[in-house]
Amino acid sequence: MSAAPGRSQASSAPSGGSEPHEVGSVGAKSAAPDRPKQARTAARQGEGAPVSAVLQADNLRKVYTIRRGLFRGAAQLQAVGGVSFTLEAGKTLAIVGESGCGKSTLARMVALIEKPTEGTLRLDGTDAVNPPAGESRRLRQAVQMVFQNPFGSLNPRKKISAVLEAPLEISTSLGRGERAQRAREMLAQVGLRPEHANRYPHMFSGGQRQRIAIGRALMLNPRLLVADEPVSALDVSIQAQVLNLLADLQARLGLAYLFISHDLAVVRHIAHDVLVMYLGHVMEQGPRDKLFARPLHPYTQALLASTPGVGAGITQRIVLAGELPSPLNPPSGCVFSSRCPHAVERCSAERPLPRVMDERRVACHFAGELPTQGSPG
Ligand SMILES: Nc1ncnc2c1ncn2[C@@H]1O[C@H](COP(=O)(O)OP(=O)(O)OP(=O)(O)O)[C@@H](O)[C@H]1O
Ligand code: SF4
Ligand SMILES: [Mg+2]
Repeated sequence: MSAAPGRSQASSAPSGGSEPHEVGSVGAKSAAPDRPKQARTAARQGEGAPVSAVLQADNLRKVYTIRRGLFRGAAQLQAVGGVSFTLEAGKTLAIVGESGCGKSTLARMVALIEKPTEGTLRLDGTDAVNPPAGESRRLRQAVQMVFQNPFGSLNPRKKISAVLEAPLEISTSLGRGERAQRAREMLAQVGLRPEHANRYPHMFSGGQRQRIAIGRALMLNPRLLVADEPVSALDVSIQAQVLNLLADLQARLGLAYLFISHDLAVVRHIAHDVLVMYLGHVMEQGPRDKLFARPLHPYTQALLASTPGVGAGITQRIVLAGELPSPLNPPSGCVFSSRCPHAVERCSAERPLPRVMDERRVACHFAGELPTQGSPG
């Protein structure tokens, strides 16, 4: 694996305060999907240069109404309970947490597939939840999604040329020849050959199919890629290649990534910043190196300790005891209290608000006072 990309300037710190700015509106069908001006500027400026936020998420919340049969009333399930972050061009924010903690729900909201129950999303300063008239299409093009399963996400009956050209056909007025040319160029960008355009998905390996899915997501020059477990279905050796491709594309195009993973080794490789979720809530968020070297939240400590080789700041092993509680009946106070080895009475009585410390936000009453090393499991 190549070295992970450079460090962020606290891009996962809570957003807020910055004035939104309008970007030029684009007509319904442009001649060609041009990279937005800010994206070109970000790519020119390169790593470390001050760039404005691509995405600002504030207090995103998603509640589902669950029907529970004839004789029991409907229940409210809070999948995401108020998540805020800022994502800059050329940076990767990884979302980690156990299965069912709300990662994919958050991803779908950011990718504009599902509307949040509450909260705001601003893409390059424009309201993406309730967009201004005529802006919907442009905003949807600016954020694209890559899914976990490269086998299921490509239509088996369509040649790769058709897969890659489809977004251009729908959203631009480019002619057939130019669309085919763009598709061939994209194949080269994602490490495939022009002749691959005439093949069908089943003729490719899993890694190649994920390259095609990434290429398709990039055809309309998005600003932000939301990748939900994009390498989990691949062999470990192939995972590294796809992660390196994502890092190369980010460096070249100034893309921002929201990267969902349950694999901390992958997160350590690709992320600039990390947001740790538990039962829909943020436990800890901040720069990757800080979080891996000295996790402050007991849940982050437990997660790192449960993955051998990644928890440099953990010398003793905490084993995550018990099951994740049901989001239909979350613990009172701190949602982690039913599994936390440090829990005291106050924890189930009072919900800890996130506090800023050591360049991070940590939602624990006792963060900073607890031992950094995990207590024996
Ligand atoms: N459409 C839906 N309707 C009702 N409940 C849902 C829906 N989507 C997700 N949920 C519930 O919301 C919670 C969070 O689910 P989500 O899929 O976001 O978790 P996740 O972190 O992505 O899990 P995994 O790691 O298994 O993919 C779960 O309890 C899930 O059952
Ligand atoms: S608030 Fe209490 S229960 Fe929650 S993480 Fe901190 S010590 Fe554990
Ligand atoms: Mg998921």
